[in-house]
Amino acid sequence: MSETADHTDTAAEDLSRPLTIGVEAYISEEWARAERDRLWAKVWQQVGRVEELPEVGDFLTYDILDDSIIVVRTSPDEIRAHYNVCSHRGRRLVDTPEGAHDGRGRGRQFVCGFHGWRYDLEGRCTRVPEREDWQGTLTDDKIKLGEVRLETWGGWIWITMDPDAEPLWTYLEPAPTLLKSFDLERFRYRWRRWLVFDCNWKVALEAFNETYHVPYTHPEFIPFGSFLGWSRVQGRHSNIGFEAPKGLEENQGKLRIGGGVDARVSTAEMQNFIWENANTNTTETLVDVANRLAAELPDGTPPDQVAKYWLETARREDADRGVVWPTVDPEAVAASGTAWQIFPNFQIGHGQNNMLCYSARPYGYDPDKCIFEVAVYQLYAPGEEPETEWVFTPPDHPDWRTVLPQDFSNMAAVQKGMKARGFTGPKPNPYRERAVANLHHNLAKYMGAGAPRDLD
Ligand code: FES
Ligand SMILES: [Fe+2]
Repeated sequence: MSETADHTDTAAEDLSRPLTIGVEAYISEEWARAERDRLWAKVWQQVGRVEELPEVGDFLTYDILDDSIIVVRTSPDEIRAHYNVCSHRGRRLVDTPEGAHDGRGRGRQFVCGFHGWRYDLEGRCTRVPEREDWQGTLTDDKIKLGEVRLETWGGWIWITMDPDAEPLWTYLEPAPTLLKSFDLERFRYRWRRWLVFDCNWKVALEAFNETYHVPYTHPEFIPFGSFLGWSRVQGRHSNIGFEAPKGLEENQGKLRIGGGVDARVSTAEMQNFIWENANTNTTETLVDVANRLAAELPDGTPPDQVAKYWLETARREDADRGVVWPTVDPEAVAASGTAWQIFPNFQIGHGQNNMLCYSARPYGYDPDKCIFEVAVYQLYAPGEEPETEWVFTPPDHPDWRTVLPQDFSNMAAVQKGMKARGFTGPKPNPYRERAVANLHHNLAKYMGAGAPRDLD
């Protein structure tokens, strides 16, 4: 791998000029191996939700390449992380059942299945059979589980394997500031699915971090209006948003009304289409209210009034049953856009009452495969949150319905094309696909190679 890092300061870099990216980061096994120490060992990674570990002793595991991490609730107000490896002879302490998303459970201690060494929730080794045989050399410090840094933000648990990493909040900025009023920590999973794609983790994420593909990959959306949008550099992260529809403020661009001649009807059509074919980006309340717009609003109601009525009614009806939407001022809605690409591998598609998130990570050192997670969240009345778990769902499974498989269908084909002799490298749209360039711009800083180059 070459050592030609681009050390341009991202803060001063909006990446608005035409750029091209090398294919090495997508297809090289050597690159995938280098990511282990240069990227994954350094960054903050989202590993689950706080509410997944409600009781002391609840734990889950998170695997990234050769490393596995136990994330465990140690007290009502503390979650900690340890390396998931026994200090005796290195057996993985908590196994992931065959085919499961992770290893999880509840307990007071972790017992290694090989020779029975035991560890408490804090990672201290509490029992070594025949410990005296080590002649007093097995000090507590030598045999405790390795510590991993953990912090929470937005209701998510984040870990970093770098003891010297900056605090989570400053790593994530400006996302926490721009998303603050959305109260993301109040959202709960509606459903969550995971799968393995035949493409690099970057190819999978880049299928979702731009709006340029919408009219071509999802032609069914064309009658509902334009879904094209902008893409902005936000330090090491990026965000994307739709252009404001004609006649509407940009702050209303987040929850789209239909673009047909009668906004009452086209809003209902679009909501039903999304609900049935994606089951993302909307809620039952929003669909129900949309279906009543034609009956409740007069003919000729202008689109901005339709949108206002629709959202205000849905907000009120949700509040009446204990589902309280956050109050987000219109400027914050406009500035936050529709989705954030948190470096390197997490996308938050936030909303005021629902959310759609994607994560991708390597599947071993095969650059042509990745683990991908899709999670839909919404706000629930207290006590009405559904029980969910990660469900392995292959790309052709009917539970994905129709819209997401359209995105999936490009992935393996892009991965193949990246290796083709005739391909000279990705050329992301400098306006709509800036998040693609920014991912590689920042990746290059960690990897010491692969910075986007000027196209001309
Ligand atoms: S490897 Fe864990 S007790 Fe021996
Ligand atoms: Fe898409």
